[in-house]
Amino acid sequence: MAETIKVLVSEKDVDARIEELGRQISEDYAGKQVHLICILKGGVFFMCELAKRITVPVSMDFMCVSSYGDGTSSSGIVKISKDLDETLEGKDVIIVEDIIDSGRTLYYLMDVLEKRNPKSLKLCTLLDKPERRVKDITVDYIGFQIPDEFVVGYGLDYAQKYRNLPYIGVVEGVE
Ligand code: IMP
Ligand code: MG
Repeated sequence: MAETIKVLVSEKDVDARIEELGRQISEDYAGKQVHLICILKGGVFFMCELAKRITVPVSMDFMCVSSYGDGTSSSGIVKISKDLDETLEGKDVIIVEDIIDSGRTLYYLMDVLEKRNPKSLKLCTLLDKPERRVKDITVDYIGFQIPDEFVVGYGLDYAQKYRNLPYIGVVEGVE
């Protein structure tokens, strides 16, 4: 059976929610500058759309992490394959992630980044799968809470495919 994608969150709904998040962040950071950290590769579409809707000054940096796991779940052993270019010292930082699943990746990363002395450190995710959480982490901004299903699109991949879909979908027809 060929893979097909069932729409879970439409393009219109994703865009509307990102606009709301942008407005909320702009209010919360009024008078400040925000430093967005994109977690590659999944966070890239979300971060670009979000940044366009934030009205306070924005700077951006990128980090690439991979966590070793059995394919469907992460182990919590996180490897930084591309580190940030800039220091976090004294900055109001928001980590921008595609999805929080077990929470292991971000649990590790928040600890690493906290030690670099940002003025503040918050976490923003497009999607949250609370049912799957094994690490207790505080998520400050959430686009959508979704059920325990494997999703693709808007930066999220299945074997590196489907990142470019402008909506969030569930892959069907996979053995
Ligand atoms: P965590 O450490 O279990 O929270 O892992 C989060 C990472 O697993 C995300 O950044 C994604 O790269 C990946 N991931 C988790 N759930 C999904 C999914 O439904 N689709 C695509 N990638 C996912
Ligand atoms: Mg990711």
